[in-house]
Order: sequence, then C-alpha cells, then structure tokens
Amino acid sequence: MNKRGGNRHAGITAVGHWVPDDVLDNNFFASYLDTNDEWIVTRTGIRERRILREGATSDMAVRAARIALERRGWTPDDIQLIICCTVTPDMLFPPTACLIQEKLGAKNCWGFDMTAACSGFLFGLETASRMVESGGYDRVLLIGADKMSAITNYQDRNTCILFGDAGGAVILEPVAEDLGIMDSYLRIDGAGKEFLYMKGGGSLNPATAETVAKGWHYVYQDGKTVFKRAVVEMAESSAHIMERNGLSAKDIAYLVPHQANLRILDAARERMGLAKEQVMINIDRYGNTTDATIPMCLSEWWAAGKLKKGDNIVLSSFGAGYTWGAILVRWAY
Ligand code: COA
Repeated sequence: MNKRGGNRHAGITAVGHWVPDDVLDNNFFASYLDTNDEWIVTRTGIRERRILREGATSDMAVRAARIALERRGWTPDDIQLIICCTVTPDMLFPPTACLIQEKLGAKNCWGFDMTAACSGFLFGLETASRMVESGGYDRVLLIGADKMSAITNYQDRNTCILFGDAGGAVILEPVAEDLGIMDSYLRIDGAGKEFLYMKGGGSLNPATAETVAKGWHYVYQDGKTVFKRAVVEMAESSAHIMERNGLSAKDIAYLVPHQANLRILDAARERMGLAKEQVMINIDRYGNTTDATIPMCLSEWWAAGKLKKGDNIVLSSFGAGYTWGAILVRWAY
C-alpha cells in the first residue's frame, strides 16, 4: 500500500486549454462604468479577459479536451470517464459531461458534473485520481470549464471586471509510484454561503420574472469578506501541504493558485517563501475563469516547455461555499 492508501498512483499525462478570441480589456468597462484600468490592475491584477459570444461551456470544454487527447495520442473512444467541473453548466441538467461526451463522440465512457465553485477543478482532481488509484479506471478526462459571462451582471462594477470564459482539460492515468497526485488537503465551510453565490434558478428560488428583475441570475460577491478568508485559507493550505510532505521552498517547482486576485496569490507565495518565478500567473490575461484557471495554467506552462517530469507542483484554490484546499502533484511526463 502506498501513501495514498492504494496500490496505484494517478498522474496527469496530458493537458489542454482553450479560450475564445474575443478580448475585453479594462478600458471597455471604463467606457460605461465608474471604474478605470488603474483601479482594476492595482486591486485585482487583471488587464483583460476573454468572452465567448456564441455557444456554451461544453463547447470550450470539448475544444480543450480535444487538445489534451491529441497531445496524449488518444481518440475519444479511449476515455472511460468524463468529469466536468463547472458552475456554468450548459443547462441545470442534463449533465454537461453528457453534452461533452456527445460532441467528442466518445463511445466507451460514463461521466458526471462536479460543482465546487472555484475549487471545482481541485475537488475534481482528487475524485478523478481516486478513481484511477482504486484500480477501477485507467483513462479519465477531467475538465474545468466555465462561461462566467453567462452569469455576470455587466452593470455591477464589483463583479463584472473579475470574470472571463475558458476551458481546461487534463488526462489522468496510472503512473509510477513516485509520480502523480501525492497528497491532498481539502476543506469546505458552508458559513461562506452568504458572501458569494448565485441566488436564483435553483430549487430555493426558481427562476421567475421577479427573480430575474432582481438580478438573482447573476453572481453576487461580498468581495472584501471573501478576500479576507481567501488570503488565509489559500496561503495556509498551500503551506500546510508543503510542510507535511517535508518540502521547503527550494523543493517546489511551481505553485499553481486559482486565479481570483493577484494580491491573494502574492499572499500565498509569501507564506510559502517562494520566488515570483515559482508561481504560475495568467490572471492578467484571462481574469478569473473559475474551474478553468488551474488546468489552463498547467497547459500554458507545459506548452512553453517549463514543466519537467518529477517537478513538485502545489495546486491551491479558494472559492464559493466556502471551498478550498491544496494538492501536491509530482509532474508525471
Ligand atoms: N472600480 C472602481 N471602484 C470599485 C470597483 C471597480 N471595478 N469595484 C469596487 N469598487 C469600489 C467599491 O465600491 C468600494 O467603494 P466604497 O469604499 O466607496 O464603497 C471600493 O472600491 C473598495 O471596494 P472593496 O470591495 O473593498 O475592494 P477590494 O479592495 O476588496 O477589491 C475585489 C474588490 C472584488 C477585487 C476583492 O475584494 C477580491 O478579489 N475579493 C475576493 C475574490 C475571491 O477570492 N473570490 C473567491 C474565488 S471566486
């Protein structure tokens, strides 16, 4: 039995991501709202974000998945399980995983959606890797994709500047015991439900003309409250997973934080004692893409040739719920 409690290790063996071409820069918001480029860059680190004008989350997911499959040299029929992490499913049901399966033409799999807000990809990675470690699956497609523009109120300057649309995908399969998903520390706390949510459209407040008039189909965030908790939990969980695995800053190749606010990423980096070059940051170009941020970072850094087999990489996130945590990955390819 290994440290994860099983006989097998699961690792990421391919990555892919896709973003729409349409760019919204900060000046776009300054043209009709009381905001400006300087405020947005200083308070968030975001300079621009991508918007999907036509289509839905599954379209971005499929494009990212095709890239990951091609890089691995697999066809859609090789996939046994699709897990789609998203807060913006194409529809409440059927599962977006089914829509992705059909668009990919993957004939030998089952799958489901996971919703854990900005921690979705991390929670999905834990789930997918456990499926592989159990011996039940050898080829899993894990997707993090969100069309945040579908639930963003472009008249609310507190939130509309933050979000963008994107899809990311990774493939998981068995790897050598000293590689892959090494450790995870994940937590939830429902006390966070009051500070970051989408109030309408669920069973509590089904969509009516009234809920729409009140804007309950949009993201609401009490930014300052969420910020304070995010800084603590992301920094502490990242440091915790590093310390309990006996790793110091020099042993870490990269921290891959969920990209919500540059100041939160800086706090996590400082708590871990890392240099700036050790942190993957793309929030300046894409904003917060919710479930897509972490796989997208991995895919970009891999494509740039910056990831090496055996690299220790800490993934960490914080999101609505609250949901948060960190996963230690030893890069497998
Ligand atoms: N342009 C200009 N001013 C803005 C603005 C904008 N786009 N958005 C908000 N403001 C104003 C506010 O109205 C407020 O004005 P007031 O003091 O007159 O009321 C002031 O700026 C400060 O607002 P505040 O919300 O305290 O700013 P902040 O420094 O906390 O930054 C966020 C706001 C949203 C960027 C920040 O709180 C944040 O990133 N929160 C956490 C995000 C997160 O981690 N989410 C979890 C994962 S999704």
